[in-house]
Amino acid sequence: MAKEGADMTEETEYMIDRNAGKEALSAESPINAKEMRAVVLAGFGGLNKLRVTKKAMPEPQDGEVKIRVKACGLNFLDLMVRQGNIDNPPKTPLVPGFECCGIVESVGENTQGFEIGDRVMAFMNYNAWAEVVCTPTDFVYKMPDEMMFAEAAAFSLNFVAAYIMLFEVASLREGMSVLVHSAGGAVGQAVAQLCSTVPNVTVFGIASCFKHSSIKDSVTHLFDRNTDYIQEVKKMSPDGVDIVLDCLCGENTGKSLSLLKPLGTYILYGASNMVTGETKSFFSFAKSWWQVEKVNPIKLYEENKVIAGFSLLNLLFKQGGCHLVKSVMDKLLRLYEEKKIKPVVDSLWALEEVKEAMQRIHDRGNIGKLILDVEKSPTPLMANDSTETSEAGEEEEDPEGDNDSKERMPFIH
Ligand SMILES: NC(=O)c1ccc[n+]([C@@H]2O[C@H](COP(=O)([O-])OP(=O)(O)OC[C@H]3O[C@@H](n4cnc5c(N)ncnc54)[C@H](OP(=O)(O)O)[C@@H]3O)[C@@H](O)[C@H]2O)c1
Repeated sequence: MAKEGADMTEETEYMIDRNAGKEALSAESPINAKEMRAVVLAGFGGLNKLRVTKKAMPEPQDGEVKIRVKACGLNFLDLMVRQGNIDNPPKTPLVPGFECCGIVESVGENTQGFEIGDRVMAFMNYNAWAEVVCTPTDFVYKMPDEMMFAEAAAFSLNFVAAYIMLFEVASLREGMSVLVHSAGGAVGQAVAQLCSTVPNVTVFGIASCFKHSSIKDSVTHLFDRNTDYIQEVKKMSPDGVDIVLDCLCGENTGKSLSLLKPLGTYILYGASNMVTGETKSFFSFAKSWWQVEKVNPIKLYEENKVIAGFSLLNLLFKQGGCHLVKSVMDKLLRLYEEKKIKPVVDSLWALEEVKEAMQRIHDRGNIGKLILDVEKSPTPLMANDSTETSEAGEEEEDPEGDNDSKERMPFIH
């Protein structure tokens, strides 16, 4: 069973050997192994498309590092990838995952700035959910000594995205107000913490009601996502807000847009509303698309409003934004070292528990980030385990509906 919140300290410390480096590598790492374990998405669809298989061991090319992975971040976007609910989906089978952390095990030729034993975190353009990854150093950052691996896996994507939106796109300054959806989620909590580094910023957070007692101190005002929060915010702040961060898309977009003050910035950075059931729903897709406010630039000019879009992964992997991201990461790591920000970890899961972990996000159960802990052993299933390591590789036939009759021990909240 995954460990959660305060209960995770013991386990986290076992996986997070702060001194892990060369010594740990030589003791633990099967450096000469020809294979490694990875989560594989066999095809787009439901949870049953995921399994853990053995794959060939990757080796670093010029300018790359090979990382023995300790932990990986599981993001809402990974659900959308699994469903094929993204623009230009890549071909399957694929190894999902966009971020991980671990220890540098070897370096390719002409690789500078990193050496064997470095504790690092990395962005990946897929392929992160594996025991070993290789990636160009443009996307790799050294972890602070005091940072634990679970924290590192919860850090990069959420804090970098939150920082760029707040400070690079929207120019957050003293005295401003920010409205953030999914405030209890991983990005939501990063937004709330970064806002608290600027004096006198008011944060209006929207989240499911059961999360309120856990996250109430992280934002100024908290609203249940099922209430008419637009009216509530208008009552408190009749002029509206300076920044709206919208990761939902669809009907919320038009409503939240009406809250924007003159010269305010509206940033669309996700489409969570498109995820309804376990598999991609064309109805939800069409509904979100149809309900999203169609923006007339002339109206924007008349109303003095700024509308922006933001995708960190596109910035990094398609638009050459790695230098900007590196400078943002430096600032974020300073804030971390000054103890001004700290990633919120919801729970830790073994690779073999990836289905249950994804289900937890589907069910809106998480507060903060879900982590795949590569060294964690899965909790035994109550019936047949459908997620055991497969020797057959990713071409193995997919047993449809295999998730129905088996379950792990339930969560304890
Ligand atoms: N553009 C970028 O660069 C970028 C980077 C990172 C993340 N994102 C986007 O930011 C959003 C948050 O990402 P995250 O990884 O931090 O996830 P997260 O917020 O931890 O995601 C889970 C939470 O989202 C909320 N939610 C909203 N709609 C949902 C739905 N249809 N199904 C299930 N949960 C839903 C739920 O919270 P409540 O029930 O409390 O609302 C849930 O607990 C996602 O849309 C993601 O794609 C964008």
